[in-house]
Amino acid sequence: MTGRPVRRGRYVFPPGLRMNLPFYLFHRFFKPGNPILLFEHLRRYGRAAHYRILWNDVVLFHEPDDIREVLIDKAASFGKDRTQKRMKILLGEGLITADGETHRRGRRIVAPAFHRQRIQRYAGEIVEMAARAGATWRPGETMDIAAEMMRLALQITARTLFDTEVTAEIREINDQVNAIMALYNYLVALPRAELLLHTPLPGMRRFRRAKARMDAVVDGMISARKAEMESNAPSAEARGDLLSLLLAARDDGTGGDGLKLTPDEVRDQVLTLFLAGYETVANALAWTWMLLGQNPGAEAQLHAELDAVLGGRLPTLEDMPRLEYTGMVLAESMRLYPPAWAMGREALEDVRIGPYMLPKGTMVFFSQYIVHRDARWFPEPERFKPERFAAEAKATRPRFAYFPFGGGGRQCIGESFAWMEATLVLATLAQRWRLALEPGQRIEPQPKITLRPKDGIRVRAVGRTADRMQ
Ligand code: HEM
Repeated sequence: MTGRPVRRGRYVFPPGLRMNLPFYLFHRFFKPGNPILLFEHLRRYGRAAHYRILWNDVVLFHEPDDIREVLIDKAASFGKDRTQKRMKILLGEGLITADGETHRRGRRIVAPAFHRQRIQRYAGEIVEMAARAGATWRPGETMDIAAEMMRLALQITARTLFDTEVTAEIREINDQVNAIMALYNYLVALPRAELLLHTPLPGMRRFRRAKARMDAVVDGMISARKAEMESNAPSAEARGDLLSLLLAARDDGTGGDGLKLTPDEVRDQVLTLFLAGYETVANALAWTWMLLGQNPGAEAQLHAELDAVLGGRLPTLEDMPRLEYTGMVLAESMRLYPPAWAMGREALEDVRIGPYMLPKGTMVFFSQYIVHRDARWFPEPERFKPERFAAEAKATRPRFAYFPFGGGGRQCIGESFAWMEATLVLATLAQRWRLALEPGQRIEPQPKITLRPKDGIRVRAVGRTADRMQ
């Protein structure tokens, strides 16, 4: 089913739901905890779909060229949508939530820390931490690989970006994030949710406590580093981690180009990078293990590549270009289970996208989860086929048929880091271990801020060869 565009005065909207969204409360596709059901339903309207939530117009785009228009050609006509702005409750004014000049300034300060050469020096540490995690596994042992990947990715982020061993606090931060996530969807969905935060409702109190503890952990980390930097410890340049760079940019008052960060800004950037950096990669890896468990052919091919390229030794940065199939496995995993499953913008002025003319204030969304399953670009979309990411196959698709890291001026700043981390972790662990899925479990994607497996993923560790298991 598709439909004709709908005119309202000088504006032209795509077809879509006739009634305001809340009236669909009893429909199968309306489940406040799972917007993917709604997005899947709206796919039937073709190129794009329109609906209204109270007085807000919302347009969901499915067409890669329309997405390119929003993110690149007409990026200046859009800001972060209101839902994301409410993420400020959690993330303050970090890179993800800021707009306009605040965003540009934040990006100028943070970007140098993510330059290719700078992040490459983390490769060794990533492999070492992955190998150490794998060394604690025992043949036959069962575990929740989603939780295991969350722990490992958190540790990697803490050490590489912030040069801190927060192992004691790791669990705590993890728990805080989980408590916040449980409430998060409800909070951000409400208009003026910020006001609710100050009420004594039990949920709000829990949120406030969790956020305060998380801030305290990050503030503690920052003041420890600051004290160290004020003594005669190595310079930010020599140390080279992100936290030192952010603090130096504030402390010397120039940051190289006259920029300053206030203490609150440092905290918000650190927290943003912390949260954006570990949970996404952890989920990408967790889904990859599930898909490998379900697809023995692909798993065997991955093992063959790891054996051929590495011959039993641990991977290094230099191996990355030859771990081609490993990269294709990860790319195909992020097609089916994109950790960032949807993104949105808000029109800052009247704007034409494709055949539509949208008024200022329209919220536009596009969902990686939905677009990545378009059979025009990915035939048999539900099947896991890493070959889709061979160079020749990739060249035949439009740019925004696949966009796990977004695009345009706000493309993920951590993309290269994420690829390096995920590739090296997968290569290190899959070289020694197969993870067999425990039978009888229901693995369900849950779209929170990121797409995570609702009740985890239970696996049994199977050593690949006896001589490589220690
Ligand atoms: C598999 C892993 C990852 C995925 C799928 C992912 C996905 C994304 C996406 C889709 C966006 C764009 C959001 C938008 O435009 O609305 C984004 C932005 C961002 N990501 Fe990532 N990300 C990943 C890993 C990381 C890592 C490792 C870091 C940092 C350590 C990071 C930090 C950020 C930041 C700071 C932004 C905001 C950039 C801006 O608006 O200027 N991400 N990410």
